[in-house]
Amino acid sequence: MSDRYAVIGNPVSHSKSPLIHVAFARQTGQDIRYDRLLAPLDGFEDTVRRFFHEGGHGLNVTLPFKREAWDLVDSLDEKALEAEAVNTIKMVNAQLVGYNTDGVGLVTDLERNLEFPIANKRVLLMGAGGAAHGVMHFLLERRPYSLLVANRTTDKAMRMVSHFINKSKHLGVTDISARPYGELTGLQFDLVINATSASLDGAMPLLPDGLFAPGALAYDMMYGRETAFLEFARAQGAACADGLGMLVEQAAESFRIWRGVRPLTAPVIAQLRGDA
Ligand code: ATR
Repeated sequence: MSDRYAVIGNPVSHSKSPLIHVAFARQTGQDIRYDRLLAPLDGFEDTVRRFFHEGGHGLNVTLPFKREAWDLVDSLDEKALEAEAVNTIKMVNAQLVGYNTDGVGLVTDLERNLEFPIANKRVLLMGAGGAAHGVMHFLLERRPYSLLVANRTTDKAMRMVSHFINKSKHLGVTDISARPYGELTGLQFDLVINATSASLDGAMPLLPDGLFAPGALAYDMMYGRETAFLEFARAQGAACADGLGMLVEQAAESFRIWRGVRPLTAPVIAQLRGDA
């Protein structure tokens, strides 16, 4: 019988993870089955425990359960500890171990696939929710020149920056701060990452003209459609990328954690974009 994996979320029917993992398995000759697992909003823990009780090998966790997964697992890998969210669970010696591969996914997509090194760049991170928090550490590790967090609720951005201030000093990034969107006028960035969920409603935070420096990249962690943010960025002359590469890269890292082999991502990204 094939080893069983699944992505757990609510909703989960839209998830591309089964497609990606099946492609990875075919490419690497691994015998796995990968399903979608819908958990009731108040039944995450029960659904997880049942899955593993019935012989499941590993789970990907998607919205809105990443924080609950962090609380649920028996132990945490160092990266998940930093991210305060778990998107990958593996059963090891009858214990649930939690990992987070989102940050690695983002940074790998930016630096390897898009060939956009983060070091010495002026970075604007939009959003201070779970998605933004989950990638902060990984962005800082790449040593940007500066990292500014903008959020609709400024307090949340300030709290997030305070949380990472010691870490950023330790990593040699001294310029880290928070501001409301209304106070970005006159500033320029080399990399602007949209980690808000505004795109889900077809919305975007109000950004000033002239935000993108020459050669800047606009990155939306959402994928699958041209968001209002990317439309704005394109009109402002920035290069644009959606989060499909991040999705495939985080999946590849999960696959490596489970199976001990890292699949090639480029053919799968091309397949999902319909280019293959
Ligand atoms: P996720 O796990 O996807 O990050 P979240 O924790 O609910 O979800 O965070 C959503 C983020 O998107 C927050 O930063 C939120 O801003 P607030 O903290 O002010 O709520 C941001 N967001 C959602 N809709 C937005 C909108 N229309 N304009 C600006 N920011 C928005």
